[in-house]
Amino acid sequence: MSIANTGSPSPTSHLFNPLFAQPEGSPIRELFPYLSRPGMLSLAGGYPSPGLFDAEGLQQAATTALQQDAAASLQYGASEGQLPLREALAELCASRGITCTPGDLLVTTGSQQAFDLLVKVMVAPGDPVLVEVPAYPATLQTLKLAQAQVVSVPTDEHGLDTEALARLLAQWPHARRPKLLYTVPNFSNPGGTLLPASRRAALVALAREHGFAIVEDDPYGELRFDDRCEPSVYETGLAQCGSANPVVYLSSLSKTVAPALRIGWMLADAQLLRRCAIAKQTADLCTSPLAQNIAAHYLRSGRYAPQLQKSCAEYAARMDALCSGLEAALGEQIRFVRPAGGMFIWAQLQPQEGDHEALSRALFAAAVTQGVLYVPGKAFFPADAAKQAGLCMRLSYAAPTVPQINEAVERLGRAWQQAVLSPIA
Ligand SMILES: Cc1ncc(COP(=O)(O)O)c(C=O)c1O
Repeated sequence: MSIANTGSPSPTSHLFNPLFAQPEGSPIRELFPYLSRPGMLSLAGGYPSPGLFDAEGLQQAATTALQQDAAASLQYGASEGQLPLREALAELCASRGITCTPGDLLVTTGSQQAFDLLVKVMVAPGDPVLVEVPAYPATLQTLKLAQAQVVSVPTDEHGLDTEALARLLAQWPHARRPKLLYTVPNFSNPGGTLLPASRRAALVALAREHGFAIVEDDPYGELRFDDRCEPSVYETGLAQCGSANPVVYLSSLSKTVAPALRIGWMLADAQLLRRCAIAKQTADLCTSPLAQNIAAHYLRSGRYAPQLQKSCAEYAARMDALCSGLEAALGEQIRFVRPAGGMFIWAQLQPQEGDHEALSRALFAAAVTQGVLYVPGKAFFPADAAKQAGLCMRLSYAAPTVPQINEAVERLGRAWQQAVLSPIA
């Protein structure tokens, strides 16, 4: 449940930082009140399936953390993170083909914090930051609060369009050069796309030429539905640039183990990592050592890999149900690319005619009436580009079961018919 915006005056409102005078919350979290409506089916949040939480394995890991490492688990810890977890995460990275040592790695309170710290350390107000669009909304929110100048980079069915980026950089209109580029190359949120190796190499070459850093945000890379797997942008950067690697790698256990652990991490060079660790000191001193030790024992328990395999199989089945259901319910009127992993489908409705913005509002209202939720596309665009969202939507198949997905899709089909017939909402 989000904290209510009551509209009543606050005794401290004259003291607010102007950035928080009229704040906009996360567009996804704004949907929370609808979720509590009886019978509502949600294709909205990027929540892992509750049925895939390995509660037994985590319970064993928690018992071990409290029996074997009680003092370390219950005490404050180093801002960089507990060594056993950093060792386990370095091994996890190695299994993804990423070369690193525990010393290259900062543990963060979710990967969301990693991005927040990075922005604090690197971005001053007015600095241009390149962001693939449509983009993960919390990234846009972080950059807005940092007063960055968000510069959209277009994407297509293969992810970030590096040729469009090259053109944008060649004709860069500002005196200030971009500092950062943000991308989710593996099964992006919201696009569901997988960036081909050739584009990863082109991206690193552009970063090298134009002197910006790349943030590779990778919470979904292990949730693959087939053998397709591209080298990480981080590893591509190491191969091209060695110790001058311009890539910062972020990842998380939220989607593969449990979001409640709040375990994320950042891989970067020592100077940057040290500054992020200092920024973390004022954010939360350290990530919960108890959560870190639970995660470390869990990763060492041998349960991670089989659990991951189970998650991939289940999400693949749910993705298939959602895609087939959408095709059956909406046919030619909807377009999307089947994702090869991750949790999301980015879909575009194709009405024969009509005002797309009005239709988009009418569709959302009709969907709520029918009892199904999705995230309207404009949540994934910077405010000044919201019109580009048209009739796009993000649908997640991760949390609902296959029967729930089937029912949700039927409701969505009915909502679309209702919206097309009376688009004024
Ligand atoms: C692309 C992306 N990055 C980061 C996060 C945040 O994850 P965490 O729970 O690790 O903070 C999410 C969560 O949905 C995400 O989709």
